[in-house]
Amino acid sequence: MPQYHQLGKIPHKRHTTFKKEDGSIHYEQLFGTIGFDGMSSLMYHLHRPTMVKEVAKSYSVAPKIAEEKNMLSLAMEGFKVPAENDYLESRKTVLVNSDCHIVLASPKHSQTKYFYKNADCDELIFVHKGTGTLKTQLGNIPFGYGDYLLVPRGMIYQMHFDTEDNRLFIVESKRPVYTPKRYRNWFGQLLEHSPFCERDFRRPNELETFDEKGDFTIKVKKQDMMHEYIYASHPFDVVGWDGYNYPYAFSIHDFEPITGRVHQPPPVHQTFETDAFVVCSFVPRLYDYHPESIPAPYNHSNIDSDEVLYYVDGDFMSRNNIEKGNITLHPAGIPHGPHPGATERSIGQTVTEELAVMVDTFKPLMVTEEAMKILIKDYHKSWLD
Ligand SMILES: [Fe+2]
Repeated sequence: MPQYHQLGKIPHKRHTTFKKEDGSIHYEQLFGTIGFDGMSSLMYHLHRPTMVKEVAKSYSVAPKIAEEKNMLSLAMEGFKVPAENDYLESRKTVLVNSDCHIVLASPKHSQTKYFYKNADCDELIFVHKGTGTLKTQLGNIPFGYGDYLLVPRGMIYQMHFDTEDNRLFIVESKRPVYTPKRYRNWFGQLLEHSPFCERDFRRPNELETFDEKGDFTIKVKKQDMMHEYIYASHPFDVVGWDGYNYPYAFSIHDFEPITGRVHQPPPVHQTFETDAFVVCSFVPRLYDYHPESIPAPYNHSNIDSDEVLYYVDGDFMSRNNIEKGNITLHPAGIPHGPHPGATERSIGQTVTEELAVMVDTFKPLMVTEEAMKILIKDYHKSWLD
């Protein structure tokens, strides 16, 4: 997040002695991205963050590909993904390419026995159902319905839920996830025409510091393997930090839609960008106000990207028979558009209550075996009269 933030106690000068009450020193760690060129934070630990006792086990968590050359429009019933007790086991990868994994999860319980770190990917976690707290090394962020949680790669975290009925839509991104550059000025400040401003981003607000030694399991995901590391100190032992690289939350309900006299294209809904895909938020808004406007989108050929839509709430104007939690994939190479009757239905409407998240990937997505379990039959024929 390109905003400076600070929590807890830090020394006056970086890379200098910062003593504890007993005279010993804190252990400084630089947490940065893109080598030493990207955003970074400096954190101060009570114990060395490097005290590995053992690597208990390593195992593959690679998704099983069912269909590599996808050329069919697909729909899936996301809420049919089974609920699981464990957070990581609940995560079912449904679509993948070499830049990102698209994951559905319905975890029933909080992570309490282990910590988790994705070493390869930023994780963008959209909360469709449930409330709780994202606990991280750099502090805690409460979350609820409609929140995007951005966890930067390498951040050790736990998900704590208040509820048992939780539904998450997750994008694991090998490319760094940012807000669109065109909404930021030369200094990084969000511009006046941006659909969100700094006040909408919730940064870690509570830093819990644990001075504990023992056996602490951190599950580290790297290159489709999970490695269970046992560390000698509690990973949340940070007394203070400052910098730009930290987890944050942004609610889809705080996205201010940009509307026009005639139909506005998907980029007006853009919320996040990477150099491999974009994420858009379709939110309740007034429809186009030209007296002869057609609010439903035109048919379009997304020649350069596969389009994934995750339906959250409200009636989706261009689709028939779409339920909450459904996902559609409209692959590059073939046009798609409103379902029969949707264009006509939209004429004269003044408002939409639709709520959806879209991920457009520039490389084709492959369909996994987990996706095949929740597939809606013959969606690709749903445009026939
Ligand atoms: Fe589309």
